[in-house]
Amino acid sequence: MSNFINPASWPLILAVFIFVILTPKEIVDGRTISNVLNKAIIKTIKVDKDEIIDCYDIYKQLSLNHPSFHNHTIQMRPSIYPKNIKLDNMGTLQLTQTWHKYGTCPHGTIPIRRNIGKYYHSTLSHKHHRSKPSYYKKPNTLQPNGIRDGHEYAVIKVRGNFLGAQAKINLWNPFVETPEGLSVSQIWVVAGDHDDLNSIEAGWEVHPPRYGDYQTRFFILWTTDTYKNYCINLECPGFVQTSSDVSLGCNFTEMSTFNGNQKDATFSIYKDQNSGNWWIQIQGIPVGYYPSSLFTQLAKTAVDVEFGGEIYDEKYKERHTTTQMGNGHFPSEGVFGISSFFNHVQVIDENNKAKDPEDVETYVSNRNCYDLKVDEKHTNGYGFYYGGPGYNNNCP
Ligand SMILES: *[C@@H]1O[C@H](CO)[C@@H](O)[C@H](O)[C@H]1NC(C)=O
Ligand SMILES: *[C@@H]1O[C@H](CO)[C@@H](O)[C@H](O)[C@H]1NC(C)=O
Repeated sequence: MSNFINPASWPLILAVFIFVILTPKEIVDGRTISNVLNKAIIKTIKVDKDEIIDCYDIYKQLSLNHPSFHNHTIQMRPSIYPKNIKLDNMGTLQLTQTWHKYGTCPHGTIPIRRNIGKYYHSTLSHKHHRSKPSYYKKPNTLQPNGIRDGHEYAVIKVRGNFLGAQAKINLWNPFVETPEGLSVSQIWVVAGDHDDLNSIEAGWEVHPPRYGDYQTRFFILWTTDTYKNYCINLECPGFVQTSSDVSLGCNFTEMSTFNGNQKDATFSIYKDQNSGNWWIQIQGIPVGYYPSSLFTQLAKTAVDVEFGGEIYDEKYKERHTTTQMGNGHFPSEGVFGISSFFNHVQVIDENNKAKDPEDVETYVSNRNCYDLKVDEKHTNGYGFYYGGPGYNNNCP
């Protein structure tokens, strides 16, 4: 077949071109969007001058506008829940997100955080630069100790065949040293390796280049090509959001304090066996799902589930960064209230049963900078303490 455009179609191409340049556009989320998409916003909730939530018509969300989602019927709720999953013990937060105090999104809409353009612009363009190391990586057990690339980990890892994972994660606001830094506490649900590592991730992060501030925010991520391309929250098509209550990229109402009140939230990732969709839940609330069709390896089960902390900072080139992991304290300094924790850690097996992880491996990239210690007492289900301050006498 010829690749040349039939001259008879030129008037049509010209008409489309004129339509595209003449259609009124507006800047929302720092992107140019057409008024058509703008009409998708049913209501706007103003938290403060830097934080605005738009309630989008659920059927007009970005994912559904993507060609690969043609004829996609939204699955409004999971058809099946994992057995034995701890839904009763949902952490200490009643109101999970700050914007709830200022309004609610109507039924049939989803809350989307608007980016006000407070980004560090230079950094934002870096982020898309392929030659830079990716901000996100899976803990790499092959990374030899002592060789720094700016990423550090303190995680546990479980191998097998899984339909998901869940954990209650302590909420902290770790110090991040540079505007390019990152401190994450999260769950990874992974299959594949080399060039087609598939990963679905959920947890909290402090990531100034993305949010323009140093707050602790709820985030999700997916990749199918070992992070060459990855997508956070609703920044590109993929995740289909169903919840009108939970907004991705938003902060929490309360944080833990050292030696004081501890706050935590339960994060879950699991595959609905009937639809194949990978659901994300926070505090027992289904937020939405990644359709199975997005994935290659994760179209089936996950083979690797990891829990813990990661930091990334460029400061490592001069000396180790002071960017904190967890709450910046080592597990050796103390337990609950002193060191950051994960507890009620569960994996969901092939039979859709939630259970404590078995044959757990630990991976810590540099124990002198950030560490991890399993809570052998199992006081709150399977759990561990993790984190650290980064730069110190033993971590130069
Ligand atoms: C969507 O549905 C219509 C009507 O059932 C069908 O003709 C079309 O091929 C479908 N499109 C895709 C991309 O599946
Ligand atoms: C969450 O964000 C709001 C608005 O930006 C801010 O006023 C509040 O202090 C933040 N909450 C926490 C716990 O950081």
